[in-house]
Amino acid sequence: MRVLVIGGGGREHAIVDACARHGHEVLCTPGNPGIAALARILSSPQDAESLAELAVQEGVDVVIVGPEAYLAAGVVDACTARGVPAFGPTRAASRLEGDKAWSKAFMTRHGIPTAQHRAFGDLAEALAHAATCSLPTVIKDAGLRAGKGVTIAHTSAEAQAALEDIFTQPGASAVIEDFMTGQEVTVLALTDGVRYALTPPSQDHKTIFDGDVGPMTGGMGVICPFPLPAEQLAVIQSEIIERTLAGMRAEGLPYTGVLYAGLMLTPSGPRVVEFNARFGDPEAEAVLPLLESDLAQHALDAVRGTLHPETVQFRAGASAVIILAAPGYPAEPQKDIPITLPPTAAGEIIYHAGTAEKEGRLVSNGGRVLAVTATADTLNAALGRAYALADRIEFAGAQRRRDIGARIGAVPSPVSTPGPVPDPASL
Ligand code: GLY
Repeated sequence: MRVLVIGGGGREHAIVDACARHGHEVLCTPGNPGIAALARILSSPQDAESLAELAVQEGVDVVIVGPEAYLAAGVVDACTARGVPAFGPTRAASRLEGDKAWSKAFMTRHGIPTAQHRAFGDLAEALAHAATCSLPTVIKDAGLRAGKGVTIAHTSAEAQAALEDIFTQPGASAVIEDFMTGQEVTVLALTDGVRYALTPPSQDHKTIFDGDVGPMTGGMGVICPFPLPAEQLAVIQSEIIERTLAGMRAEGLPYTGVLYAGLMLTPSGPRVVEFNARFGDPEAEAVLPLLESDLAQHALDAVRGTLHPETVQFRAGASAVIILAAPGYPAEPQKDIPITLPPTAAGEIIYHAGTAEKEGRLVSNGGRVLAVTATADTLNAALGRAYALADRIEFAGAQRRRDIGARIGAVPSPVSTPGPVPDPASL
């Protein structure tokens, strides 16, 4: 198949990798230097109509959309209008992520467990309500903020500052919700709108610093699989995934693509923290290296309404992702810092998230710069390999968390044979 992947971050690198290893011809726009090693990079305007035209001109068999902004811009609708299969929800269905006030109201309508919440389109009303909330409280921008629109306010001043920041944007609205406690877990469902297949559950680490403190980021590291008890998984399937898909169908918004359920395992059961309308980033970089079956075929099947969940197969074992972020991230990430990547061995992958090539050198070009991934038979071994690989990367000032997996008691195993087998040509 000829597959067009839209996006240019670590998640799209992982999607491209998953398609390329099944022998598909992969095209990507806008791509990045890491993706360029696996796919033909296409330069194109990034609006929905231009991308759909590109897919027609290139004769692609299926389009896989990575980031949410393209979904909200209607790229799936534009492809569908031209007869090109595109894996992802329509613009209207992507509201599940793109409009958190609507998403919360949808959950209430369909009995999907989530935190108590209220939505506000007016700053004064939001501030008045926040003043009555017990702390900590959760303040969310209802619109898309690239994973950074959430503040856990521990003081009234933090809540006020977060709301004032949200309402600096025209047409803004905010959701204020109860703080939930428990382990956080991501469950991804590949779906054709009716049938679905779950990926192994994973756990992201969203704050910049160890110990889950500091500003929120897009995600600083992932473990997969997260050890989710079978009875909790059953509740997640019946009360969250299936109710969501049925609810979207009932509201005339059948949902195709990846349904990302960000969940809190609270003492009273799993609750939705947020829905996203695409693969998580960096969850994709942990989950997709474990996928044995053919992502491009699943995507095409899903678009055709004929997903075969039993054919979606993952290998046994585990994976870990360590994000290397630029100095200054998330406030002001520094660009143009030279990076030197080491060779990798089987089971080690360095996904490019925010890199560029300048004057023949690889440099930082974003907040999260590299997603360093390793797979192994056990989670501790995967963590050990991923940390050892991250430590071999030359990237001055790179930020990384050292406690990925610690929340569930995982400990990186020492790597007994560090480094890859040398390239014979270099000896
Ligand atoms: N890892 C969080 C997200 O993809 O939004």
